Amino acid sequence: MSRGIPQETLDEILNRTDIVEIISSFIPLRRAGRNFKAVCPFHHEKTASFMVNPAKQIYHCFGCGVGGNAYSFLMRYERMEFPEAVEQLAKRAGVALPKSEHDSKAESLNTLLYKINELAAIYYQGLFNSDEGLPAKNYLLGRGIKKETIDAFKLGFAGARWDGLINFLRAKNINLSLLEKSGLIVPKQGGGYYDRFRNRIIFPIYDLRNRIIAFGGRILPPVEQGKDLAKYVNSPETPIYIKGKNLFGLNMAKDEIGKIDYAVIVEGYLDFLVPFQEGLHNVIASQGTALTYEQVRLLKRYTRNAVVVFDGDAAGETATLRSLDIFLEEEMEVKVVDLPQGFDPDTFIRRYGIKEFKERIEGAKTLFDYKLGALKSHFSVSSVEKRVKIANEMLPTIAKIKNAMLKSEYLKCLAEDLGLKEESLLIQIKKVKPESGTLEVRNPVKNKVFQINPAEKLLLKLMLEESELIVNLKGNLEPADFQDERAAKIVSIAFDLISQGKKVEPNHLISHLSDDNISGFIGELMVSSEPLIESERRQEIAEDCVKRLKNQRLRLKRERLFEEIKSAQDSKDDQLLQRLTQDFQQLTRGGF
Ligand code: CTP
Ligand code: MN
Repeated sequence: MSRGIPQETLDEILNRTDIVEIISSFIPLRRAGRNFKAVCPFHHEKTASFMVNPAKQIYHCFGCGVGGNAYSFLMRYERMEFPEAVEQLAKRAGVALPKSEHDSKAESLNTLLYKINELAAIYYQGLFNSDEGLPAKNYLLGRGIKKETIDAFKLGFAGARWDGLINFLRAKNINLSLLEKSGLIVPKQGGGYYDRFRNRIIFPIYDLRNRIIAFGGRILPPVEQGKDLAKYVNSPETPIYIKGKNLFGLNMAKDEIGKIDYAVIVEGYLDFLVPFQEGLHNVIASQGTALTYEQVRLLKRYTRNAVVVFDGDAAGETATLRSLDIFLEEEMEVKVVDLPQGFDPDTFIRRYGIKEFKERIEGAKTLFDYKLGALKSHFSVSSVEKRVKIANEMLPTIAKIKNAMLKSEYLKCLAEDLGLKEESLLIQIKKVKPESGTLEVRNPVKNKVFQINPAEKLLLKLMLEESELIVNLKGNLEPADFQDERAAKIVSIAFDLISQGKKVEPNHLISHLSDDNISGFIGELMVSSEPLIESERRQEIAEDCVKRLKNQRLRLKRERLFEEIKSAQDSKDDQLLQRLTQDFQQLTRGGF
């Protein structure tokens, strides 16, 4: 998948790039035999298990399993998107990138939208600092928001007029249909437009590069009698803003989050601003209750540890609790703090101070303890039925824990706590489908190469080390001979390349496939130190592996058929049974 840029160009850039040079500009690399090694920048470790193979232009960490080529290193280390990484390496390598019309159009639209937001923020700030904005200023100051904070976050005020922003931006020659795309104005029924935000305190929302991508507006009290206005109004989704993919304040907090390796997640804008200005710089806001999968993935770029602080009233709600399972599915540690009834982080800190807030964070409960406690106070444990109900709520959460030891410990604890039998919980948890969570897209499980059959592993390694071998084997080998899906996919692409008369380079394959899981897999394969095989024996060994793979495939097919025959017998489906038996006989007679 080249994502707009031709594969040849991507390959060419890699050919002109030295991964050792790139990586060593960020972290110190030491020679270690054929490889270079370092302490892994992507997880905590004391001994170096991060390897860079200069011959193959691939890196891999044996500790955390990540791996890939120069693009994927930049993406991971510098938190770049793929096109950005390509752009950077292209520049370095002196390769010109072709621009498609669609790209430049989208780019110019986005650039204009950022510019409009920037101008709008200036407008709102201007109003905030004018006489008209005095009530807004007093309101925020009254809530303990300091002048420096207001300026640093460019907080503003939208006045009472219906066309204030429209006129301001028109005077700057911004056309209205473009302005409409920014979501800052709303079309009127009879034609024309009006400002979306009126009489509201304005919170600019930033992306990771500190560009303003949207706004949130809070109503300013006192609200006129009889008016039923929403407390918050936000920009709609636009080409540069998708709400569920944004974490408020992450642009400001990301460095600290990375440094101290955990994030404090609160709900609201002010719940973010108050602790942040008090020096808690690893805080971010979800902008609503349930965290999305995308928000969790975004945070995971910086840390694997999260402390979620619930407002005193939202605490313990099952829907909110379920959303925390996303962290487990993402293999993150999540802890929970609930504040006293009626408090949110903002009001809590203003009443009890930041020190007390930090202590609550220190004392956060594990998701298991927290959830169990919340459920027990919700349902009470008076009857067996209720205890079973609690167990049933707990099991999907426990099922999502990836660490087997932890999982079985938690099961034991749950059984003890609820006075239920551990064995029956064990039976019950097997019925919990891992897919039954809140997730739509699943993160691929980190597959380790060692889970692959050794013959498949060796063969794939040999093939990736030497394109010529792929040419020689192609007639007698199919991707489906590999049981490992990743291997099958790699081989199928390798065959494609060979038929186009191209060479197969593992580091190129990584950008062809653009799949983290496969990158890590190729990385481990190429960097792992297998015994060196003399070149004259390679073909012979590869052929032997092919034979093993074929046998394995045949055996598995036979086993599968046998199972099908058994179940056809059980269900007394004679027609099916007859067909399957024929297939089986044919198979045992040899050949597919
Ligand atoms: N929110 C939103 N749209 C709404 C309501 C809430 O986007 N209609 C988001 C805002 O980011 C808000 C957060 O959810 O800050 C939490 O909402 P809530 O707890 O209702 O407000 P607070 O943040 O406590 O606001 P305040 O303290 O100013 O009353
Ligand atoms: Mn609040």
